[in-house]
Amino acid sequence: MKDPITISITGAAGNIGYALLFRIASGSVFGADQPVNLHLIEIEPALPALQGVVMELDDCAFPLLKNIVATADLAEGFKNADWALLVGSVPRKAGMERNDLLGINGKIFTGQGQAIAANAKPTCKTLVVGNPCNTNCLIAMSNATGLPKNQFFAMTRLDENRAKSQLAAKAGVHSSQVTNLCIWGNHSATQYPDFVHAKIDGKPVTEVISDREWLEGEFIATVQQRGAAIIKARGASSAASAANAALDTVMALSTPTAEGDWHSVAICSNGEYGIEPGIMASMPIRTKADGSWEVVEGLEIDDFSQGKIDATIAELKEERDAVKDLIPG
Ligand code: NAI
Repeated sequence: MKDPITISITGAAGNIGYALLFRIASGSVFGADQPVNLHLIEIEPALPALQGVVMELDDCAFPLLKNIVATADLAEGFKNADWALLVGSVPRKAGMERNDLLGINGKIFTGQGQAIAANAKPTCKTLVVGNPCNTNCLIAMSNATGLPKNQFFAMTRLDENRAKSQLAAKAGVHSSQVTNLCIWGNHSATQYPDFVHAKIDGKPVTEVISDREWLEGEFIATVQQRGAAIIKARGASSAASAANAALDTVMALSTPTAEGDWHSVAICSNGEYGIEPGIMASMPIRTKADGSWEVVEGLEIDDFSQGKIDATIAELKEERDAVKDLIPG
């Protein structure tokens, strides 16, 4: 039996947490021969609810779940972590401006970045889900002194999955037949789901779906507004599909990407595609056989796509400027 790996999860008593933990503990993420420790991190007021979740985990008697820590202490929570999944954040409330939200959450991610650097394994990978996830991730990464920047990621996989599902429905195929779907930029309403490079059964989407007006209009808008549509229908934000996307991201970063394909996740730009270095932007990523990853370079960006990418990057720059006090020089 392998040694257990440790997965630290913030916001573990929340809705996404509830949909995440049991799948990790069951072995469906890291494999049927990989024991796991779960370090569940919550704010003090949520610890009683978290205790209930721990009771349920106990009641599953998962063979692969070795140890559970439930805590509000960041040092204890991130100790020896192999993965840090930062899900917890403060939701936007009525009357709250975006910059207020950035400021409140920014302070959370400063402390969490520092605690990861001080307590997790030096190889720990961090995935930020809590919104605004790109900028929260930028703050965590910037405060995690000593950890490589390429171990920090913000989630845009839910957007990728949503886009694949929309394209598949339009083309009358299964979503698994849609590949090479990249989300560019911010996990927000400015994101650009790139249909130009996406493929259906290996053919360009633009050949399979000839309705360019739909692709440029309704398709993009549907993906961008999908979160709001779910809140309207369900009366609560997407949790199960968000948890699923977080686990898809972890798996996509842990296993080699299929030849010729890529996946979407926000990473710290090194200037690829003209995106300013240091911006936490979603791009096409390929995971290599040795577990490292690279940006898929050399895609030709047409004028339509460039306009969309510029808009979402401009928003990320605004977000970065709004939290500049939380980013050490
Ligand atoms: P939720 O409100 O059900 O749960 C959030 C949990 O985080 C709560 O239990 C809360 O006590 C905890 N929390 C708050 N501050 C914390 C801190 N400083 N440390 C540890 N825990 C803390 O929310 P839900 O539905 O689970 O969503 C979590 C986040 O994920 C939200 O920010 C949401 O906007 C975001 N999200 C991101 C998506 C993406 O694609 N990147 C998709 C869907 C949601």
